[in-house]
Amino acid sequence: MAQEFHVGLDVLTGERPLMAHSPAGVQQPAREAGRTFYIETFGCQMNVHDSEKVAGVLLRRGYRQVNTPDAAALVLYNTCSIREKAAQKVFSRLGQFKAGPDGSKVIGVLGCVAQQEGEQIFERAPWVSLVCGSASYRKLPELLAELEAGNRRVTGLDTDTEETFETEITRRDNPFRAYLTIIEGCDKACAYCVVPFTRGPERSRSSAPVLEEVRQLADVGYSEVQLLGQTVNSYRDPSPRRLSFAELLVAVSEVPGIHRVRFTTSHPRDFHRDIVEAIDSIPALCDHVHLPVQSGSTRILRAMQRTYTREDYLEKLAMIRAARRPISVTSDIIVGFPGETDQDFADTLSLLDLAQYDGVFSFKYSPRPNTPAISMADPIPEEEKGRRLAVLQERQRRIQTARNEALVGQTFEVLVDGQSRKENQWAGRTSSNRVLNFSSPHENLLGHYVQVKVARAGPNSLVGERVM
Ligand code: 5AD
Ligand code: SF4
Repeated sequence: MAQEFHVGLDVLTGERPLMAHSPAGVQQPAREAGRTFYIETFGCQMNVHDSEKVAGVLLRRGYRQVNTPDAAALVLYNTCSIREKAAQKVFSRLGQFKAGPDGSKVIGVLGCVAQQEGEQIFERAPWVSLVCGSASYRKLPELLAELEAGNRRVTGLDTDTEETFETEITRRDNPFRAYLTIIEGCDKACAYCVVPFTRGPERSRSSAPVLEEVRQLADVGYSEVQLLGQTVNSYRDPSPRRLSFAELLVAVSEVPGIHRVRFTTSHPRDFHRDIVEAIDSIPALCDHVHLPVQSGSTRILRAMQRTYTREDYLEKLAMIRAARRPISVTSDIIVGFPGETDQDFADTLSLLDLAQYDGVFSFKYSPRPNTPAISMADPIPEEEKGRRLAVLQERQRRIQTARNEALVGQTFEVLVDGQSRKENQWAGRTSSNRVLNFSSPHENLLGHYVQVKVARAGPNSLVGERVM
């Protein structure tokens, strides 16, 4: 049965619900009360972290974060356009301000929908004042200054930049895992994907500021960091040190106080043996690789412009499976890409059996503007895409159940990141990123590393007992 967990984020981050009045009941000065913002995030981890950085820029300018759009003077939506459904969400959010504008709120659209739709957003929702894609976030302070000066239509839509989005402060929302972008944008050209268009060309950050940020995170108490990039392992240090991705992983894991290092998302083409060797030799590098295959059919992979074959992918997987310690592997899969035949789909199912993934995110193909695949005929009916998705998910569910059941009796270290409303019940993550729920009579285990022995397993999580 699903258990409910809550993390006291408000308490842990020092964030408090909005108070219209000060504790003494005295009204706050109008200007200060006016400088409030609300930000809602859709989409991937990159977006989640971008929102943390945007919040940092705003806090630095004297804004205060609030928990509802109603309480905010500046309402921001950081959007995702990876699939049509995700992109539509923001327009339903924007719809609620239709009755306005009463002039008291500034509404902004950030992220991938902003980049994709550009100034058309002003036509669809004239009450929006700011439209800014992620490749232009370094300009945010100027754009905010224009808004504060009363400008009603402000845009940041360039993607022709060499720079990455560096902030003086970042307001981190996850008290246990610190996200850190090391590479932005994408130079691959997967036929289905909007990311190269919405996030612009690939830009790696220099290793020195990355390592400095990791040291600062360790200083404020973070022991787990997750390095982010659309193709994180395509990282190349642009500074004279010229660290490879694997060398950067090693350097990050050597920062005193850092106990766990994760990274996502890896592209199979740039996934080399040195990454596996680094994980094998350094316990702090987590034993988990997210390595999306997208399809098990070489024919479809070619149409997708993924730059590898089924066999190439399986070779990479064999390299990972040959590591001295077990490394958990997860994947993304798209079903119903234009031209996918029953045989192609069968190839994807057989790849699932061979790959034995520990987790899979699977999606129906969704045609996106500004992608090469948009001009391909998309004859596979929605119902057939849905059927293939259900078949794939059921097959994977059985694989995951079996893999998780094989862990019963083993003991894992977990970082405790959740507390159940039920007494003595906790949740944590193993190095392989599995959720492990367990009981322990100890008070306040949040943020601690503890050893837990697995007693039961389901497809998506494990249940165990703390071992002392
Ligand atoms: N349709 C369906 N899924 C997509 N993804 C990316 N673009 C599309 C699309 N147009 C999936 C891929 C990617 C994940 C983040 O989203 O599997 O790895
Ligand atoms: Fe969505 Fe891709 Fe943008 Fe992330 S980068 S928010 S997954 S479209």
